[in-house]
Amino acid sequence: MQTDSGYQLVRLNNGICSVRSLADGETFHPVVGPVAEAEALYVNQLRLRERLQNHSGEFVIWDVGLGAAANALTVLRATRDIACQIHLVSFDHTLEPLEFALKHAADLGYFGGYENCLKEFLREHRVKFQDGAQSVDWEFHHGDFPTLVASQLVGRDSCRAGHHQSNPAREDARPAKILLPPPHAILFDAYSPARNPAMWTLPLFTNLFQMLDPQRPCALPTYSRSTILRVTLLLAGFFVGVGHATGEKEETTIAANDLSLLTEPLDRRWLERARRSHSAEPMAEPVYRIAPLSAESWEKLQAHPQFKNS
Ligand SMILES: C[S@@+](CC[C@H](N)C(=O)[O-])C[C@H]1O[C@@H](n2cnc3c(N)ncnc32)[C@H](O)[C@@H]1O
Repeated sequence: MQTDSGYQLVRLNNGICSVRSLADGETFHPVVGPVAEAEALYVNQLRLRERLQNHSGEFVIWDVGLGAAANALTVLRATRDIACQIHLVSFDHTLEPLEFALKHAADLGYFGGYENCLKEFLREHRVKFQDGAQSVDWEFHHGDFPTLVASQLVGRDSCRAGHHQSNPAREDARPAKILLPPPHAILFDAYSPARNPAMWTLPLFTNLFQMLDPQRPCALPTYSRSTILRVTLLLAGFFVGVGHATGEKEETTIAANDLSLLTEPLDRRWLERARRSHSAEPMAEPVYRIAPLSAESWEKLQAHPQFKNS
């Protein structure tokens, strides 16, 4: 099928088209297709419609790995009849897959009605529009996501504690810090850990957890069910549960800063299995490797509040 700028349109067995990155050797939504996967993994699992119906004010969604915007558009389309304000914050280190996908919008089929908004979004990195009953403020942050998240936390604690010594000369020299609103939901869709280890390390998820507002319940579903990912999320501070099947995977993972957002939290039996797993130790650096749990990680996991009463 059609190829340009390092991306290719592929037709899945069910006849639906998806985007493939040739450089990364990965198809974005490889089995059931973009819309079905995004509906199962994010819209349904996050109980987005229910949360939006009961929410007042802005509802912030982080879209990590904007790619060809299938997740973002599926979320918007699935909730457009609800009177709500969505602030969608997308992250990626390239806009090429979206540019490619937009050229092939007719084959991909999920852009219907959003093409002009996306053209403005590509140009301005921000677009605001009314869609059905919903108002949308959609912004894009271009760059390496782990670096961006880490940069948000630099100096934050000392400022909060009031230890920050004001030095106007130094502050002028510093680039203005982007202010990211803390999310109510995170669509986490990087490439697989073997291809894209930088997006699955313990330091990244620890920083991400630090960026959440403890007063703002937030859930993060993602497609992997691996023990290593679940241990990483737990050690980063999240509560972690079993996630819905998506058609591709019989089980996924959902993490949250509030236990009430999980329907099936991992229990002690899972913990015992993790202890025996040959692949459970989080990656401390962006280098893919497989190892059983270290004694230190095992000790921390046992002390996690999720397992106290299970
Ligand atoms: C599986 S694709 C995302 C598909 C997308 N969510 C969609 O619905 O079309 C993974 C995306 O993660 C992005 N990505 C990978 N590593 C990244 C990094 N270090 N920082 C920011 N984005 C990254 C890739 O450029 C790619 O677009």
